[in-house]
Amino acid sequence: MTAESHVLSGVVAIVTGGARGLGAAFARHIVTNGGRVVIADLLDAEGKLLAGELGPSAAYTHLDVTDPEQWASAVTFTHAEFGTLTGLVNNAGVATGQFIEHEPVDHLRSVLEVNLVGVFNGMQAVIAPMRAAGGGSIVNISSAAGLFGLALTAGYGASKWGVRGLTKIAAVELGTDRIRVNSVHPGMTYTPMTAQVGIQTGEGNYPNTPMGRVGVPEEIAGAVGYLLSDAAAYVTGAEIAVDGGWTAGPTVKYVMGQ
Ligand SMILES: NC(=O)c1ccc[n+]([C@@H]2O[C@H](COP(=O)([O-])OP(=O)(O)OC[C@H]3O[C@@H](n4cnc5c(N)ncnc54)[C@H](O)[C@@H]3O)[C@@H](O)[C@H]2O)c1
Repeated sequence: MTAESHVLSGVVAIVTGGARGLGAAFARHIVTNGGRVVIADLLDAEGKLLAGELGPSAAYTHLDVTDPEQWASAVTFTHAEFGTLTGLVNNAGVATGQFIEHEPVDHLRSVLEVNLVGVFNGMQAVIAPMRAAGGGSIVNISSAAGLFGLALTAGYGASKWGVRGLTKIAAVELGTDRIRVNSVHPGMTYTPMTAQVGIQTGEGNYPNTPMGRVGVPEEIAGAVGYLLSDAAAYVTGAEIAVDGGWTAGPTVKYVMGQ
């Protein structure tokens, strides 16, 4: 059972892709810590169910992150539900898995459209309202695949490196507006996205990561909560890996050839 706190009281945040997986854990973390959240996703039934479960501090709205008009509606919805928007978690994403040699360019473009253009659209939609509110915090969910080269992730990896770069550009541009922009880089985490490709939880199930296992969404949520909170008031343009050491380097077993 998670202890309740008020660390995020005053936070009003949109979490994209919030209906399931990591986004659902972020939405739950925000509410548990005293904030209010708009869950924005394509999965209306799952999103409404979660918002209902989280209670009056949560609401759901339909949002396709690739569509700037829908972003404008999501921001208006958030203001109407909870007042001034102070946070955005750009979490919605899709995965890919082909060698570059075999990756159809249309597929690569479609992944970039959600994972990179979607993040761009989100930032563009919230800058003016956050500036008017006197500041805010944008957390962009990149990936370990945005910190190193991960095979079989042509479009996905490129999008996540792009998110990391876009985050730093936004941080530089928006610093004096008191809008902080940071990226979080989850390692392999157990969600519907990774369950689909056979990832399993449990000790020893992911031996090429120093901690030897995949993460669970709740283990990523703390970093997002921190970046949304006042504890991170001087943190912008940073990247936080939450990956069991995956991007720190090869495991001892690998180095020793065992
Ligand atoms: N699970 C991992 O191991 C892992 C690791 C690193 C980074 N990530 C990133 O974390 C984020 C969440 O991943 P997850 O594992 O929870 O995946 P998931 O597939 O379980 O959830 C993704 C959510 O995004 C939504 N979504 C997809 N396209 C959308 C669109 N166009 N508009 C709005 N919503 C859309 C989906 O409906 C879904 O609810 C993604 O950006 C992913 O790349 C995941």
